[in-house]
Amino acid sequence: MHSVPEEKLLKGKPVSEHVYNRLGEQLSFLKSNNVTPKLTVILVGEDPASQVYVRRKGKACEKLGILSETITLPAETSEETLLARIQELNTDDSNHGILVQLPLPSHIDENRVIRAINPAKDVDCFHPQNVGLLVSGNPYVLPCTPAGIMEMLDYYNIPTSGKHVVVAGRSNIVGKPMANLLVQKNNRANATVTVVHSRTQNMAELTKQADILIAAIGKPRFFTAEHISNGTVVVDVGINRIDADTEKGYKLVGDVDLDSVSTLVEKITPVPGGVGPMTIAMLMQNTVLAAAAQENVVFP
Ligand code: GUN
Repeated sequence: MHSVPEEKLLKGKPVSEHVYNRLGEQLSFLKSNNVTPKLTVILVGEDPASQVYVRRKGKACEKLGILSETITLPAETSEETLLARIQELNTDDSNHGILVQLPLPSHIDENRVIRAINPAKDVDCFHPQNVGLLVSGNPYVLPCTPAGIMEMLDYYNIPTSGKHVVVAGRSNIVGKPMANLLVQKNNRANATVTVVHSRTQNMAELTKQADILIAAIGKPRFFTAEHISNGTVVVDVGINRIDADTEKGYKLVGDVDLDSVSTLVEKITPVPGGVGPMTIAMLMQNTVLAAAAQENVVFP
């Protein structure tokens, strides 16, 4: 239970439904061109959270009529073996998207794996070529979680143009690409962006200046009333498992202490049920876009 009034919550579900409806139309168009997109997800090892995410990705494909395959490899799989599997998928014309679930076991070089993925099939937007296209304002696909956050802000009519957005966290998956999307010169971005992180001095001084705070540091309930000014829109990207007296023995909390900030925030995304559903919706979007690009289908 938390004390945030319902009308302050920015829920992901209606936004992901909106994206799925749009995708339904694009998928029908692809089908009329005899194209059915296919996504292959590779999971190395048995990280329980990764297993949950990978299962959800497969289910989302099924719901939309996107073909999907999950390749599960043991934790001790060699980098060489993994690279060989990626190479097979790179040249398999029936497969349009390749997603290697991160994190990988520590004996595997994540960067080498990402660089091995055919950029045309890189539905995560992790390959340096696609990161470069993103930064230079001419993206192939958009990084899933940041793109999902942009969709949410758009859906809930929260403008970013000219606003001060503070991005907390500098990961390659969320923080860095998020800052990059927001700073772009286009009608959906145009923000003034500050990135804060674990080495930032006077963190609260900066976050208090935010019109929009995007919390993506992976520390349970880190941001409290001391970090936030009245009227801030808060996007909580954290999905942290903490011990709890539940059936599973844990519960999920965000990077923001909801109880502490509930009276201050203008709007806030809940955890779970906020940004989470958006990441997978945007992955589906990227799979559709990658399939269209590879099959030379242009949407009307
Ligand atoms: N691990 C956590 N988030 C992601 C993601 O968006 N893509 C991949 N491949 N791995 C992840």
